[in-house]
Amino acid sequence: MTSTQYPAAALYDSILDPANRHDPYPYYAELLAEPLHRLDEHVWLVTRYTDIVQLLRDPRMTQRDPRQPVADPAPLGSDGTPFHGPFLVMDPPHHDTLRRQTMHQFIPRILGLRPHIERLVHGLLDARGQGPGVIDIVTDLAYPLPVGVICELLGVPASEEPVFHAFAERLTRGLDPEESLSEQEKAELAVTRGEWRDYLTPMIARRHRDPGDDLISGLLTEGDAETRMNAVELGATLGMLLIAGHETTVNLVTNGVLTLLRNPGVLGRLRADPDLAPAVVEEVLRYDPPVQMTGRHTTAPIQVAGQTIPAGDDIRLLLAAGNRDPRRFTDPARFDPDRPDNAHLGFGGGVHYCLGAALARMEAQAALSAVAARVRAPRLLADPPAYRPNMVLRGPATLRLAYDEITA
Ligand code: HEM
Repeated sequence: MTSTQYPAAALYDSILDPANRHDPYPYYAELLAEPLHRLDEHVWLVTRYTDIVQLLRDPRMTQRDPRQPVADPAPLGSDGTPFHGPFLVMDPPHHDTLRRQTMHQFIPRILGLRPHIERLVHGLLDARGQGPGVIDIVTDLAYPLPVGVICELLGVPASEEPVFHAFAERLTRGLDPEESLSEQEKAELAVTRGEWRDYLTPMIARRHRDPGDDLISGLLTEGDAETRMNAVELGATLGMLLIAGHETTVNLVTNGVLTLLRNPGVLGRLRADPDLAPAVVEEVLRYDPPVQMTGRHTTAPIQVAGQTIPAGDDIRLLLAAGNRDPRRFTDPARFDPDRPDNAHLGFGGGVHYCLGAALARMEAQAALSAVAARVRAPRLLADPPAYRPNMVLRGPATLRLAYDEITA
């Protein structure tokens, strides 16, 4: 992306560089000094809170890249238009139809999940055994938790969890900006997407023949036959739920534990008062959000910070920078769960506001309060920890803690 014509491009390159993954926040602070940045002739970067909120809500913004060709011949969506991806990348009105159908099946199923989530969390901590030891929060807690929850929702047996886990990991890299992927990574992604379709097809066919009370079976019979999502949309929705609900939650739990260990005063308060968990989780979503950036394209000329961005341009919205905008959050680099009016951008905004926010909150609250209550004398073995290369879904690759004991 580096361009001498556009100075912010060098800063943006530093943000994309995996060597800086452990702490991109100084770059964000630098970018926040100016209201709008140009990265390339048709690519812009927005970092300030109010501009991001405005753009996320603007109906003239599209998730679709107008330069991205539609497959030829393209399969058709249930509205008869060429299909180009899950509803995360669709615009209203068809986005709204598919989102409504998914919410209708998803929300009632997650409402009763809290006891199951708490059992999963405590079971994972119990598995560490007695006495002093070392736990890797990523592999021993944060990864198994959301994959167990998604498999429960989809009615997939526990024996399939490793397969889901592997798909989630491989598909997630596809969320990063295309220019940060090597040709080999792009080719691998295409292969993985094909394998995911091949894996899902017989699973969906089984639910057709023999429906259960899981989410897949529910979506197959949701609403009326004319507007119901078709097979290609269902496959895309399931893939999206897997990716959107997996790595994000892993990162929220891991970023949360890391932040608590760096803020022992808050950790002590959470240990004494589990009711602090919701405020802690909201502050982690602001302070170190699992989704750092999203993007849109303009369908018409749009004014941002006094400049006009032409139609058809690509706008990157740096959610994690907006969360640290001093115009919106007092002392933004301080982790403060007592912060009033914490309307962070961790779950995005507008019509694409995270559909799984309630589930993510439940999982993170259960995990962080259990770690605070049960893990005695936790010590980080490496700070900063090693990070995965992903820029958009950013989080540590491992987070190893030594402890004296995990209490019952
Ligand atoms: C910590 C956890 C999570 C975070 C930080 C997160 C964040 C986000 C963000 C920022 C968006 C908006 C993307 C955009 O506007 O481009 C989004 C959308 C979405 N998320 Fe989440 N998410 C999390 C967990 C989940 C879970 C657990 C699920 C479901 C199992 C989920 C499902 C979705 C879906 C389906 C969308 C697309 C909504 C739409 O296009 O209407 N997310 N999420």
